[in-house]
Amino acid sequence: MDFMEKQNRYTDMVNDFLDKSIKEKDLLEKSIYTAIRYSLLAGGKRLRPTLALAVCDMLGGDLEEVLPYACAIEMIHTYSLIHDDLPAMDNDDYRRGKLTNHKMFGESLAILAGDGLLNMAFEVMLESTSSKPNNLENKIKAMAYIAKSSGIRGMIGGQVIDTESENKEISIETLEYIHRYKTGALIKAPVVSAAIICNATDEESQSLEKFAEGLGLAFQIKDDILDVEGSTEKLGKKVGSDASNKKTTYVSLYGLEKSKQMLNKTSEEAITNLQKFGTKAAFLKELTEYLIVREI
Ligand code: IPE
Ligand code: IPE
Ligand code: MG
Ligand code: MG
Ligand code: MG
Repeated sequence: MDFMEKQNRYTDMVNDFLDKSIKEKDLLEKSIYTAIRYSLLAGGKRLRPTLALAVCDMLGGDLEEVLPYACAIEMIHTYSLIHDDLPAMDNDDYRRGKLTNHKMFGESLAILAGDGLLNMAFEVMLESTSSKPNNLENKIKAMAYIAKSSGIRGMIGGQVIDTESENKEISIETLEYIHRYKTGALIKAPVVSAAIICNATDEESQSLEKFAEGLGLAFQIKDDILDVEGSTEKLGKKVGSDASNKKTTYVSLYGLEKSKQMLNKTSEEAITNLQKFGTKAAFLKELTEYLIVREI
């Protein structure tokens, strides 16, 4: 299977699982189902679950075993986007090619949709773990890792510093710290949790962790670049958001050219950690290269 075929296969599996996990219900609180489905099924690259499935494939694991954890991370990611777009945070009007959740449903329901997705992520993982309790210790370890990566020692921690750094001059060290947490943590989570579930050796896990750390940083450097030179149409979110919120980004600190060099260097370094997996790592390598040139 070539790169595109594999990517489409992973995305189809993820979209199908997400669609089935939250069906609209004819209840008094029907609006929360509508609001959640609106953002969760709006497209999106599905990078995080793709990483989990690709690591699982590479390690010879069972994709169906990893799928619920992969999709749980996508739910957490989608909740983080809904909240990130709120007026109290980045105040953005478009996401995944559509009006943001709060623009569509109001702030109150958008906050609750985010909260609901976070809970749903743990429901999905715990239901899958309790219905298939094989490999239990590793599955619990993977869930603990996902919980930590999403919380104040991960994504939320990064978002806190990001928000508190608006209108301020911050150092490159602080910026790298923000990126590693607000974005890097939820990119590392699918790689590490899949490695745990698929019984990776310590040596394999360490290499994959380093790979994911580099990839996460590179991914956010590219996000900063796209916020300056990307197309609103292609990205499905408005460019120029960082400048209007007076955020420090790689581009504001280093300029476009230097940021692009850093993106390339960080991505290449990430790929060197895949060496020990040989040709089995072809997909992850190509994915990292694709993310350097992505326009969406
Ligand atoms: C956007 O993430 C937010 C960041 C952490 C940079 P993605 O670029 O992965 O967004 P989707 O999931 O494709 O919409
Ligand atoms: C968001 O970073 C990281 C999250 C935890 C959601 P950004 O604020 O740069 O993401 P975009 O550019 O709005 O997608
Ligand atoms: Mg933000
Ligand atoms: Mg934002
Ligand atoms: Mg951004």
